[in-house]
Amino acid sequence: MQKSLIDLSSWSESHTLTFFQEVQKLKSSPLKPMGAFWGSVALVFLEPSTRTRLSFERAAHRLGLQTQLVSGSSGSSIEKGESIEETLQNIAAMLPKAIVVRCGDDVALSEIASKLPVPVLCAGWGKQAHPTQALLDAYTLFEKWKGHFKHKRILFVGDMIHSRVLASHRQLLKNLNCQVGYLSPEAWRLPSLHNFEQNFENKKSALEWADAIIGLRWQKERHISTGEQVRFDVSDYQITYDDLKDLPDQPWVMHPGPVGWGEEFSASVKDYAHQLILDQVTSGVFVRACLLSRLGE
Ligand code: CP
Repeated sequence: MQKSLIDLSSWSESHTLTFFQEVQKLKSSPLKPMGAFWGSVALVFLEPSTRTRLSFERAAHRLGLQTQLVSGSSGSSIEKGESIEETLQNIAAMLPKAIVVRCGDDVALSEIASKLPVPVLCAGWGKQAHPTQALLDAYTLFEKWKGHFKHKRILFVGDMIHSRVLASHRQLLKNLNCQVGYLSPEAWRLPSLHNFEQNFENKKSALEWADAIIGLRWQKERHISTGEQVRFDVSDYQITYDDLKDLPDQPWVMHPGPVGWGEEFSASVKDYAHQLILDQVTSGVFVRACLLSRLGE
């Protein structure tokens, strides 16, 4: 049985590349309902989502799986005071093939998952993890780079310390032997770096270094909740079309979405041809379908 998916640190290079080859195969063949694979997947989304929720739904339906949805705590028994752990125990008792969960940092998701009798697939957990997003981002690059990740240079731009997407990428990209760079205001920098990571002080040098650039949203809702006020010159950290258009190697530009247009990316980036933002969304359906198809093994 597929185990829960929260942490990517155990995804070795060979395991990840084999998984991406499976995704590629799935993408090149029609996803038909599988008679022997009947069942349901529970989707518990306690925080807002468009891409991840609909992508899991689409992936499940294309495999012939039914979906059961809890969208926000309003209208569920969480509103009556039931703990999220107990809610998840009750959903697990309905015997879905898996429970897909998006929740905040207040939920002890790893611990709860370890006690449930069905796998939990993390769909975004506070600042901790967003493994399927990191997998679909890397899969999108796998297609462009024909599986060659070693020594590729990936630059993240935006809010590092509040990003669950980055937390999962740090685990995955280390195992794929990538080099990782960061461009962000000092207040949003990671407190400590590993030897495959570096901070950039200068936007031009960072962009010239990168083979791919991944924007990360300025997470204002998390800054408001902690009372953070970060002041910086936006032009030092915002990527514009003018920054990109003359770069000799035209790096791929990506973003997990939703994009903060006018924040980490200027709206002019929409005119840059080497961007993969909607390709990432398409990849997401197949990456999630591949994960769900493993539930039948
Ligand atoms: N990238 C991502 O998680 O988007 P949603 O919040 O729309 O699911």
